[in-house]
Amino acid sequence: MASTQIAKSFLQAIQHRRTIYALSKKEILPEEEIIKYIRAFVKEAPSAFNVQSSRVVVLFGAQHDNYWGQIVPAALRAVAGEGAVEASKQKLAGFQAGTGTILFFEDMNLIKGQQEAFPQYAAGFPVWSSHSSGMAQIYVWSGLESLGYGANLQHYGGLTGETLKAEYKLPDSYAIQSEMVFGYPEQPAGEKEYMADHERVIAYGHSA
Ligand SMILES: Cc1cc2nc3c(=O)[nH]c(=O)nc-3n(C[C@H](O)[C@H](O)[C@H](O)COP(=O)(O)O)c2cc1C
Repeated sequence: MASTQIAKSFLQAIQHRRTIYALSKKEILPEEEIIKYIRAFVKEAPSAFNVQSSRVVVLFGAQHDNYWGQIVPAALRAVAGEGAVEASKQKLAGFQAGTGTILFFEDMNLIKGQQEAFPQYAAGFPVWSSHSSGMAQIYVWSGLESLGYGANLQHYGGLTGETLKAEYKLPDSYAIQSEMVFGYPEQPAGEKEYMADHERVIAYGHSA
C-alpha cells in the first residue's frame, strides 16, 4: 500500500474517533476478539525509554455493571453523600449500558526505577508516564472506534482506584489514570467546534 493510502486511513480513523455517550451492549465482536485488539493497541503505544508502564484491565459483563452500578456510586456516596449519587444516576446508568470498561493504570514501580536509574531526569518520568498512558488511551479509543464501537473517557479513578486494586488483586504500585467506556454506538457524537488550524500549528522555514 502506498504510504499516502496508509496516511489517509490513519487520518480517517482519528477523525472518526469521538466521545460517544449513547452506548448499548449490542454485540459487534466476540469479547476474545476485543481483548486481542486492545492488547495489540496497547502493545504499540510508545513510552519513555520504552518502559512499557501502561497496564490495562478490561471489565465485561457483570464486572462492568458492578463498576458503574456499585463501585462508583458507593465511592461517590462516601465522599459526597446520597445527593451526589442521585445527581449522577442517569450518567452512570449510561456508562453501565455499554459493553465494557477499560481501566488504564501506570505501574509506578517502573517509573520509580527509572527515577533511580536516571536521577537527572527524575522529575520528568512521572510526566512522561502520564503522556504514555494518554498514548495508549488514544490508540485504544481510536482503534475501538475503527472497529465500530463508540467510547468515552471517564475519571472516577481518584475515588475508586484503591477499591479496584483490592477487587482485582492488582499490585499496589498500579496508579489508575482513566476509565474508557465502550459499546455499540446508539447515537452519533455531538457537534464539535474546532479552532482554526493555523492557531494551533505554525511552521517556519518552509518554502511555500
Ligand atoms: C485527557 C482527557 C480527559 C477527559 N476527561 C473526560 C471526563 O472525565 N469525562 C468525559 O465525559 N469526557 C472526558 N474527556 C472527553 C473530552 O471532553 C472530549 O474528548 C472533548 O470534548 C472532545 O470531544 P471528542 O472526544 O468528541 O473529540 C476527556 C478527554 C481527554 C483527552
